[in-house]
Amino acid sequence: MQNIENLTIAEIVAQDYRTSDVFRKHRIDFCCGGKISLLDAKQQYGIEPETLVKEITEVLSSNASSTHAYNEWDLDFLADFIERTHHQFVKQEIPVLEAYLIKIADVHGNNHPELHDVKRLFLASAEALTTHLEEEEKVLFPMIRQLVKASKQGNSTQDFQEEVLAHSVSKLIGEHETEGDRFKEIAQLTSQYSIPEDACNTYMVAISKLAAFEQDLHQHIHLENNILFPKAIAMESLILQ
Ligand SMILES: [Fe+2]
Ligand SMILES: [Fe+2]
Repeated sequence: MQNIENLTIAEIVAQDYRTSDVFRKHRIDFCCGGKISLLDAKQQYGIEPETLVKEITEVLSSNASSTHAYNEWDLDFLADFIERTHHQFVKQEIPVLEAYLIKIADVHGNNHPELHDVKRLFLASAEALTTHLEEEEKVLFPMIRQLVKASKQGNSTQDFQEEVLAHSVSKLIGEHETEGDRFKEIAQLTSQYSIPEDACNTYMVAISKLAAFEQDLHQHIHLENNILFPKAIAMESLILQ
């Protein structure tokens, strides 16, 4: 990896996803708010850049097998991967989490009134995410697959209308920010997904699942915001040249 100090957080994570653990540990946003340098991160989060560089270097030099080389994949393959893993996960977890959160707000809402807000926020997020995924699967990802095909075949540009892709991408990035903010609030309300002493099993499972959902969402948004979307826009402008 080139000089870490000169890269943004999003670029560092895009180059090696294992480094996301370092930012996650310090609660530094690497997906929606990742376009900042380590120096900016000091201002925003109060963590010394030297500490981050040291921890990132440790992760990079560890023998733990590297995660997928997302940044090197063809964009159609990356879109397929996101759909098969992250979209699948969101769709599978939403009904389960909804049922759990409704139940624990009902049973524990008196002692833990924040559970009502957590439930409300998650239900809103679930609804927005469902529409969001549909737009990606039906509109944006097919557009990206077409772009890849055209760029491989050196096809004509008549199928592409400038601005359509950029418009869709900026709308979707805005929606990522909304969900990122919603989950920041959920994390705060649950004291970073900690489980209180009086929690029953369902409570425990619900909070753990919620934490896993947020973690998956961060990776999902990172892959789209920092790799798939900007590369698709760059590919389109090359084709339209
Ligand atoms: Fe997505
Ligand atoms: Fe998305």
